[in-house]
Amino acid sequence: MLNVAVLGFGTVGCGVVEVITSNSEKIAKSAGCEIGVKYIVDIRDFPDSKYRELLVKDFATVENDPDVRVVVETIGGVGVAYEFTKRSLLAGKNVVTSNKELVATRGTELLAIAKKMNVNYLFEASVGGGIPILRPITLCLSANRIEEVYGIFNGTTNYIITAMSSRGASFGDVLKEAQAMGYAEANPAADIEGLDTCRKVSIIAALSFGKHIDPDLISTEGISGITVEDMKNAELAGYRIKLLGRALMGADGRITAYVAPHLVNCGSLISGTDGVMNAITVRGNATGDVMFYGPGAGSLPTASAVVGDIIDIAGHLEKRKDIGWEDCGPDSVAGVGELRTGWYVRTAAGKDAVKALFPDASFIDGASYTAFITGENCADEIRPLLEKLPALSAFRILD
Ligand code: HSE
Repeated sequence: MLNVAVLGFGTVGCGVVEVITSNSEKIAKSAGCEIGVKYIVDIRDFPDSKYRELLVKDFATVENDPDVRVVVETIGGVGVAYEFTKRSLLAGKNVVTSNKELVATRGTELLAIAKKMNVNYLFEASVGGGIPILRPITLCLSANRIEEVYGIFNGTTNYIITAMSSRGASFGDVLKEAQAMGYAEANPAADIEGLDTCRKVSIIAALSFGKHIDPDLISTEGISGITVEDMKNAELAGYRIKLLGRALMGADGRITAYVAPHLVNCGSLISGTDGVMNAITVRGNATGDVMFYGPGAGSLPTASAVVGDIIDIAGHLEKRKDIGWEDCGPDSVAGVGELRTGWYVRTAAGKDAVKALFPDASFIDGASYTAFITGENCADEIRPLLEKLPALSAFRILD
């Protein structure tokens, strides 16, 4: 029996206990041994839970129990979650997590401790929820030099954008729906302002390129600047608006990583990615584009990824999986201002004022306000022109 302790009995923690319990036979077959939950650690009381016998409040119970070989951290954040992860690894226990903030900000240190202690620190669920994406990058695609990774990494914001454009729902109402379904972060500002996507981009870029970029160095813009007018204008021009995270490695080895709303071509796979679904494209130099699609948030999909990691650990108790990256500073990062793309712009200014500043502007017929598409520009060139116009909205176009 491989004994597991689950830290945090929230959306993901509950899902993990549920999956381990309800799929126990199948899991035992895949893992080669039975997997059981010995403890659930949470400071709250759950008197009505069918798992209440497993609940303990003190993490030391887990830390001091040599029978617990795997700790599942689903607390979230970088406070207690960091402390308990570190203590678990130092106690010689394997750790699995869905906590993208912790992996993106402290992953380098925690992976080093895991290596020193000869245990595993795995985090498939931290990116893409139920979509297998990190293991495919580190295993199935490892013969490739990865050139670019981009996609929709946040279920909450994609759910909001989809509902606003398809049923004209208000931002506040849809956010409440996403929260009720367990998609949103404890503080949904992390979703709305793009921080959750930023952390996921930091993790996926680190595994794709072998270099970890601190989330603070990733330019991040969320969805609060997208209006219903922009969505309608985009559709008139043959596009939809999606919040994308993107990381590219240039010929000089520097990485451009950023998060921002983009116009994507109607009819492309990514434009048809709606609701809580995520879609992530990985461009390898041998494969070309490979796309991963599926539920990016939610209790059971995320639990599926967590339990997949536990099963993987069952086969790596003696010889750990060596995953990791180099920590790199600002010199390895190319500013997003240098990246050339087309742009969608909306302004209250007239067409003549637009033509004077953007001679190559292509106007969107029937648009609200004046809306137009530019040729390729980098942000450093276009920003002063947008300020002069002035622009009400400006988003990149994914080529
Ligand atoms: N809040 C996140 C999302 C949860 O909506 O995608 C999954 O990481």
